[in-house]
Amino acid sequence: MPRPEGHQPVLVAEVVSGLAAAPGKHFIDGTAGNGGHTRALLSATAPDGQVLAIDWDPSAVARLKVISQDPAMKERMLVAHGNFTTMEEVARTLGFTPSGGCLLDLGLSSLQLDAPDAGFGFDAERLDFRFDATAEIPTAADLVNRMPVGKLADVLRTYGEEPLARPIASAIVRLREREPFRQGAQLAAVVAGVYRHHYGKPSRRHPATRTFQALRIAVNQELENIQAALHSSLTLLPPGARIAVISYHSLEDRIVKQFFREYARPCRCPSDAPRCTCGGPYLAVVTRKPVVPGDAEVAANFRSRSAKLRIAQRLFNQTPLIKQT
Ligand SMILES: C[S@@+](CC[C@H](N)C(=O)[O-])C[C@H]1O[C@@H](n2cnc3c(N)ncnc32)[C@H](O)[C@@H]1O
Repeated sequence: MPRPEGHQPVLVAEVVSGLAAAPGKHFIDGTAGNGGHTRALLSATAPDGQVLAIDWDPSAVARLKVISQDPAMKERMLVAHGNFTTMEEVARTLGFTPSGGCLLDLGLSSLQLDAPDAGFGFDAERLDFRFDATAEIPTAADLVNRMPVGKLADVLRTYGEEPLARPIASAIVRLREREPFRQGAQLAAVVAGVYRHHYGKPSRRHPATRTFQALRIAVNQELENIQAALHSSLTLLPPGARIAVISYHSLEDRIVKQFFREYARPCRCPSDAPRCTCGGPYLAVVTRKPVVPGDAEVAANFRSRSAKLRIAQRLFNQTPLIKQT
């Protein structure tokens, strides 16, 4: 299968087999990006399976629409723009039932990271970080130029696990008074300066990696989005369908692991409840341990090194779920 230019999808064979993709099944790819997993799912579900490909980034959606015109995909690939938190609504509007399940391949694509005008990288022309630049939400520049120092340090600590959160936040606040932050390089240089001051020697990865990750998570409310999408999958997926999530850092993976574990418990009622009213387990965990790329994949695609794939299956459960948000 030809590889989509610019972004190498990770754990493709593992996703296809883990989702038990087979002819005729319908899937939602909630983070379709450059269409790598979508193509693989379409290929495994041929001749009559379908994939609803969703992405929050309008430029990814434009590319997906082009892919969907390929004669091999036509009629079988549906494309929609939106946050995956709305996938239930999108599917309902299109009359699409994901009989096979859904996939969330979290984070951002290499195309988004590498294109200076996409606003994500260390050399981004705009300090933006919104997946959807048309969304009316504060940008990374808004957060960096306006947040009080304590709140900014909290963001860096919580979402970036940044050990120098406070000194970096203080340096940002000091410098923004002279000149507001507008570009990725400005911010990256300040963080690099704080690292040099504290550690002296250069680090293996770019010192601003954690800061950029933290701001991206905060701008897009990424952790809240994952929680919301996992909850909506419980009512979106029919019994027997599967959900696969690929995460790239421990904050994301922890949410997925705990969610699957919680809904696979024999009973979720409070321990002092007189009788069980929760309806019993809702999911079966398919991957006891996360599936990770092998050495060959990491050698071929360095960005796959942190990927972790977890899969769960919706059980055949008669009790309607009381939705929690
Ligand atoms: C790692 S890439 C996915 C790559 C894709 N699996 C492929 O094979 O090309 C993650 C994608 O998720 C999208 N994304 C991130 N958060 C999203 C959200 N909340 N809703 C929908 N798409 C989102 C990004 O725009 C990006 O295209």
